Amino acid sequence: MMISMISLSKKYLRSISDLTDNEIRSIIEYAIEFKNKDRTNNNQSLAGKTLALMFEKPSTRTRLSFETAMFQLGGNTIYLNSNDLQLSRGESIEDTAKTISLYADCLVARVYSHDTILDLAQNCTIPVINGLSDLYHPCQILADLMTILEYKKTFEGLTLAWVGDGNNVCNDLLIGCAKMGINIKAAIPQGYEPPQTVLDLVTNEAKLKNSRFALVREPIDAVQNADVVVTDTFVSIGHEKDDEKRRSTFVPKYQVNGKLMSYSKDDAIFMHCLPAKRGQEVTPDVIDGKKSVVWNEAENRLHVQKSVLIGYLS
Ligand code: CP
Ligand code: NVA
Repeated sequence: MMISMISLSKKYLRSISDLTDNEIRSIIEYAIEFKNKDRTNNNQSLAGKTLALMFEKPSTRTRLSFETAMFQLGGNTIYLNSNDLQLSRGESIEDTAKTISLYADCLVARVYSHDTILDLAQNCTIPVINGLSDLYHPCQILADLMTILEYKKTFEGLTLAWVGDGNNVCNDLLIGCAKMGINIKAAIPQGYEPPQTVLDLVTNEAKLKNSRFALVREPIDAVQNADVVVTDTFVSIGHEKDDEKRRSTFVPKYQVNGKLMSYSKDDAIFMHCLPAKRGQEVTPDVIDGKKSVVWNEAENRLHVQKSVLIGYLS
């Protein structure tokens, strides 16, 4: 494999916008190679390297895929629940970042506030990867783009429909799709749109790539003739206190059900980063139905994680 060819220009992955278009393509290409040719563990490229995982929030896929990826590449991981660190007793992020950098070779952090990712990136001397903040989820979007490419063979001319909350996954997905030249239609209720900085970034990228970006209110307008339909939870971690208000805003109008999916192309795929709440943002017939590719999407987390780790650590 030509894995050693990946090199990433920035020493942090705070958002998908930290990667150039070519870097995204390389990460996906190598991930596809890992998936097809080198799935198991004959690769020792990261022997002797340690990945620290600092998590303020729960995780199933992100933690599992990074830990498995490191193991299969010959490296080691240390999981740090932030409640168990001196951080929870008032040690600063700056001092925590400097300390982690003394021992580990790379840090994945899952945090509430994106400012924490920025502080970590500024104060660590090792690469810092955002494993989800309130604003972005770049590793998820690399797996999503890989999944789209696997099923659709190209990014060119595709239309992706986002239905639901303008959340962390949405922000990076719109940026990532715009970078790849995918047309985007996002159906998001008023008051739940991505931040203006994200909308501006997506609009500018779409202009550069000659693709289209439309923010609409009606889910049918987004899903009509779409190649890819994506949603996520209406209540992200940290928004639990707004649970009732969010549910009454989003359900049933923004729920992806069989009727809404019937407006997409016959060969459209349905994606969701998981965890999903069946009966809220998506109905079982869709997420467990024949257009759904959510399990392949989840598996692809492992393969892109390997590419990213190799990009930073070899
Ligand atoms: N999609 C995703 O990041 O899942 P986890 O929250 O389980 O890590
Ligand atoms: N938007 C969700 C994604 C979880 C992977 C959240 O932040 O909880």
